Amino acid sequence: MKILIANFKMNMTPSQSKDYLINFLSRYESGKVDLTLCMPYTSLYIEKFLCVNRGVKVGAQNIADEEDGHNTGEISGKMLKDSGVEYVIVGHNERRKKFKEDGKSINKKIKIALKNRLGVVLCVGESLIERNTLKTYEVLKEQLKSALKGLYENELEKIIVAYEPIWAVGTGQTPQPKEIEDAVKEIRKVISDDFSEISSKNICVVYGGSVDSKNIRQFKNCKDLDGFLVGQACLEPSELLKIIAYM
Ligand code: PGA
Repeated sequence: MKILIANFKMNMTPSQSKDYLINFLSRYESGKVDLTLCMPYTSLYIEKFLCVNRGVKVGAQNIADEEDGHNTGEISGKMLKDSGVEYVIVGHNERRKKFKEDGKSINKKIKIALKNRLGVVLCVGESLIERNTLKTYEVLKEQLKSALKGLYENELEKIIVAYEPIWAVGTGQTPQPKEIEDAVKEIRKVISDDFSEISSKNICVVYGGSVDSKNIRQFKNCKDLDGFLVGQACLEPSELLKIIAYM
């Protein structure tokens, strides 16, 4: 089954999320995709109650890189788990940039997520300058190596890698399907070198960056691609349902 992760970013109040979910779930047929909705923290509890037994997983957009204690404004793995969260996004480029999250912190976040039995959606991707100077693969390798440092091979089962070229996120621009395939191949190669051939085949890799119902058919048959991460396009229930229908 293809994976679909919806990242609501900093959109939707709890009441708006409730309305959205009632509308979406009344038209959603479970079983077609493996769907995770990553709503803001303040909507997680509502999502947990509305989505139970509906074939929709609750996701979060971030996790602290420490267990608990003196971390004003942060959210712990334990809190996410108790809110019904199954997957958490780590290393999104908006957080890497704005909150200066580096490889070390991302690695700690992943370990804490796994310790709390949460799955991880690890975002990696190059900037436009890196792309133009042919550094894409170097960047992917560096980001993956630092994020996955010290993990046991069996823990990769709980990780989904999201290839998200920074220049494509929220811009309406997308790579060519072949470029996505090449990046996915590179991601799998790094996993093969650092872990094993088997893990490189088994790890789930999705694409994110300006995916919508108009362009998804272009990408859905990309080789070795397990699904998608959508941002802007998930904010309208009808648009998200169309994307699911085309997957
Ligand atoms: P977008 O966002 O689909 O709006 O480009 C993707 C993301 O959240 O990474």
